[in-house]
Amino acid sequence: MSVVAVVPAAGSGQRLGAALPKAFVPVGGVPILVRAVDGLLCSGVVDRVVVAVPADQVDAARSLLAGRPVMVVAGGSDRTDSVRNALHAIDGASGGERVHGGERAGTHAGDAHTDDTPGADHIVLVHDAARPLAPPELTAAVVAAVRSGRHAVVPVLPLADTVKQVDGAGRVHGTVDRSVLRAVQTPQGFTRALLDRAYAAAGPTATDDAGLVEALGEPVHTVPGHASAFKVTTPWDLELAEMLLARTPGAGT
Ligand code: CTP
Ligand code: MG
Repeated sequence: MSVVAVVPAAGSGQRLGAALPKAFVPVGGVPILVRAVDGLLCSGVVDRVVVAVPADQVDAARSLLAGRPVMVVAGGSDRTDSVRNALHAIDGASGGERVHGGERAGTHAGDAHTDDTPGADHIVLVHDAARPLAPPELTAAVVAAVRSGRHAVVPVLPLADTVKQVDGAGRVHGTVDRSVLRAVQTPQGFTRALLDRAYAAAGPTATDDAGLVEALGEPVHTVPGHASAFKVTTPWDLELAEMLLARTPGAGT
């Protein structure tokens, strides 16, 4: 089974508040999106990547990712739409995505869907561009779990802080049992058939990809997450990523 990674990167990054869309902001001198894609490819278990970026950034993303087995498409107004656009582009399901940019980075548009279209039985990873430091080992672990027969797999971490229920006025109504709670990361891994079913049934309020699978009543399994797979959301997160890269020799190149 081949492995295709879908990378939603079409958000604006409101909470980061940078001058560029978040995926294009450099961290350690390299755009967040490029780090996320190279991390996936570095795992050795990902065959192809489909990236969804803001429509006006398609050409810029193609240049940044030239020479890699990557296709760039225009994303949508929310994350679900961006992932859906990328899923359609995997097999060139409609001409529409190609008009929007279903082109392999750095090659001729006509080559994009011809000789390496994966079969319907492939594995799909969905990975936020906003997690540029997710370790390749995490990607490999998620893919291994899907290969072992799990149809939906998410990396999770236990919560470190105590969690409380609070009302709109800021008053505490109780302490939640955190031992049963987990923070969920990406990459999340799925068999293509299951993810397609989940997206076909997705409502407008969908949050993460595994949530759509849960909504079908299908099981979702977990593997241990990794602290480095944190999501760059705020300026603090970006600073943390910069600091982590600064102490890793060669990471800024
Ligand atoms: N994303 C996307 N398309 C959208 C919105 C989000 O592809 N319309 C992607 C983001 O680019 C990011 C991932 O989904 O890689 C997780 O979203 P988030 O961290 O919320 O990024 P933004 O939406 O860009 O940030 P913010 O919510 O602060 O604006
Ligand atoms: Mg967002």
